[in-house]
Amino acid sequence: MPSFDDRFRAKLQELFAWRRDVRRFRGDPLPEHALQRLIETACLAPSVGLSQPWRFVIVDDPARRQAVLDNFSACNAEALSAYQEERAQLYARLKLAGLREAPAHLAVFADRGTAVGHGVGRRTMPEMADYSVVTAIATMWLAARAEGIGMGWVSILDPVVVAEVLDIPRDWRLIGYFCIGYPEIEDDRPELEREGWERRRAATDHIIRR
Ligand SMILES: Cc1cc2nc3c(=O)[nH]c(=O)nc-3n(C[C@H](O)[C@H](O)[C@H](O)COP(=O)(O)O)c2cc1C
Repeated sequence: MPSFDDRFRAKLQELFAWRRDVRRFRGDPLPEHALQRLIETACLAPSVGLSQPWRFVIVDDPARRQAVLDNFSACNAEALSAYQEERAQLYARLKLAGLREAPAHLAVFADRGTAVGHGVGRRTMPEMADYSVVTAIATMWLAARAEGIGMGWVSILDPVVVAEVLDIPRDWRLIGYFCIGYPEIEDDRPELEREGWERRRAATDHIIRR
């Protein structure tokens, strides 16, 4: 059985602090099997009833990647139109995806209809399948950072279009679309904070007691 000492805990804390959402990628490809390895780590995540509802779609096909990029451009233009004045100017300056540059694209779905796990924990809250997939993504995000690999979550997409583009079973739900590659820069502050969009709040701002 492994034991985790103070030195390890300090490093782990650094990993949490230096994980970033990455939108600016270098051009060099990932080493062979890197994505496979990260997905294997993601599959160690908890899941409701051990249902393991995560489905990973590695998107290699240039035409499908382009279709996702086109959908992002349309959705992002639409999102911009909802902001006014200074917020709109600021939004327009944000880089909210690295779809063009990232060497790897990964779509992650939740198979809501899976029989694995025999329905445990999903009766009153079927969305627990989706949350299980989110835990896998968070696991992968940290594992990637530990290898110096950056991941960027792209949610400015139409999930119906993405499912069509990727030819996905009807009851799979898109949880996230990811750009993956080596980051251009490392930073311990979120890019949205550095760009003046939003600031990180203290943990105490998010805690209440009853
Ligand atoms: C569910 C989810 C969806 C996100 N979607 C986007 C997105 O579409 N585009 C983007 O640039 N960042 C996206 N992000 C990244 C957040 O903007 C980022 O996590 C946040 O600004 C904090 O920065 P950090 O991840 O570097 O700590 C998303 C993050 C999460 C958890």
